[in-house]
Amino acid sequence: MQVLFATAEAYPLAKTGGLADVSGALPLALRRLGVDVRLLLPAYPRAYLRVENARIAAKIPPALGVNDATLIAGKFPDADLPVYLIDSPQLFRRNGGLYQDEAGKEWPDNPLRFAFLAHVGREIAMGRLGLDFKPDLVHANDWHAGLLPLYLTLERGERPATIFTTHNMAFQGNCPADWLGRLDIPPALYSTGGIEFYGHISFLKAGLRYADRVTTVSPTYAREILTPAFGCGMDGVLTERGEDFSGILNGIDENLWNPGADPVLPRPYRETDISGKRVCKAALQAEFGLNIDPETPVFGFVSRLTHQKMADVVLEVLPWLTEQGAQFVVVGEGDPAMEAAFEAARERFAGNVAVIIGYDEPLAHKLQAGCDILMAPARFEPCGLTQLYALRYGTLPIVRRTGGLADTVVDATATSIADRSATGFVFDEPTPADLTEAVNRAQSLYREPLIWRRLQLQAMAQDYSWTSSATQYAALYSAASGLPVDLGQPVADRSVVQTTRQAAS
Ligand code: ADP
Ligand code: GLC
Repeated sequence: MQVLFATAEAYPLAKTGGLADVSGALPLALRRLGVDVRLLLPAYPRAYLRVENARIAAKIPPALGVNDATLIAGKFPDADLPVYLIDSPQLFRRNGGLYQDEAGKEWPDNPLRFAFLAHVGREIAMGRLGLDFKPDLVHANDWHAGLLPLYLTLERGERPATIFTTHNMAFQGNCPADWLGRLDIPPALYSTGGIEFYGHISFLKAGLRYADRVTTVSPTYAREILTPAFGCGMDGVLTERGEDFSGILNGIDENLWNPGADPVLPRPYRETDISGKRVCKAALQAEFGLNIDPETPVFGFVSRLTHQKMADVVLEVLPWLTEQGAQFVVVGEGDPAMEAAFEAARERFAGNVAVIIGYDEPLAHKLQAGCDILMAPARFEPCGLTQLYALRYGTLPIVRRTGGLADTVVDATATSIADRSATGFVFDEPTPADLTEAVNRAQSLYREPLIWRRLQLQAMAQDYSWTSSATQYAALYSAASGLPVDLGQPVADRSVVQTTRQAAS
């Protein structure tokens, strides 16, 4: 089976968050299962530099007013995964972020940029670019690729099956209705039963409505977004999809996130001997000017600094936390007001609180390894990956009982500690009081080293590899396309090539 996986980001080519982690790992896991998945994403300058064996695969005929586009074929770094990059100087060759300019302002032509991603996906899917690849199924991710299922339903000839995955219902790609003509969408579809959403065109709604199947990234979030409280206005659209909508939990790339072979750690460690974690903690404390003390609990927060992630509530709890004698390390970026508030906290609690505003991938790894406890609260969380990385690194997560957080962390209670299922701390309400209560419980258990060690080992023993989730996607691909997937016929094995990357770094 051949599958085109369309996405706006894929680590390490381009990343702003968890979508990149999933897009960089799920296709590889699927290839290990025998599915010939290929990636499609924009040729942002850094992605272009990082892709291997790049060559021109096709000239893309003018469409949507874009007439400078070329399709580049290459290989994912250190892995046997074919990648197609859309090179358009007009749309993608610019400094700044993937979605925003250097000042943090959304690119005004984002509707066109991502409609073009969908358009090129359609051309590949319909076999019109002369490639040696004709997908049986297209897997479109998030609003950026939301128009792809819609464009394919407009095709007269036979078309591949389509799956749309929403990684976050809060990001909808809504734009003014006057974009309609420029995006090549028939005016008739601009209706409540189509892609109209409160007087706007919604790319997310297009994906949810027109894909053959729709998924999201955890079973609990799949239930939550069928309700007005979590559906971001789209709960009705999803409810109409009935059985065609489901939740499949994300996994993690266990090669990239492995405390036993993580090239940025001063001392690797594994379940059988976690003594290296103390070295990682001391190194983190030293790097950030914190008192080097193995007994002081270190809390970490590696996150977008936004309302979703309860960064405001974390800020409220921070003064109390430092009064308790705890240390706190933050690496994040996001809402400018929250960034400023965290910076102010750094000044106020110097020596106990370290704050790095910015995006730093190696630091995220060092933080996961060097902290004792990861704060991963959220008002809503489709899946969440940081709590999964924390588990793997023996760093106990504090999470709110919502979305994928609820599906992946088992609260430490007397019962779960006794039956050895506990892996972290779970609270219910997005309030300082509930977060404080969970922090208190974490701090008390931290003072009981034998229990703490057992919880760490239980956390590290959890299997959140992609294997089981990729098998569920393969089954869904099979159901949607009507084609069998011959599980167990690997197309690629990253574990082999991965060794090269680790050796090189
Ligand atoms: P989301 O995608 O909603 O932001 P996830 O938990 O799914 O949340 O994924 C976040 C990803 O981004 C993780 O890989 C995390 O380590 C990474 N990340 C978040 N903020 C930063 C940062 N400031 N520096 C480095 N990595 C970060
Ligand atoms: C989104 C969600 C996050 C999820 C990630 C990958 O960014 O906010 O919860 O883990 O996508 O699916």
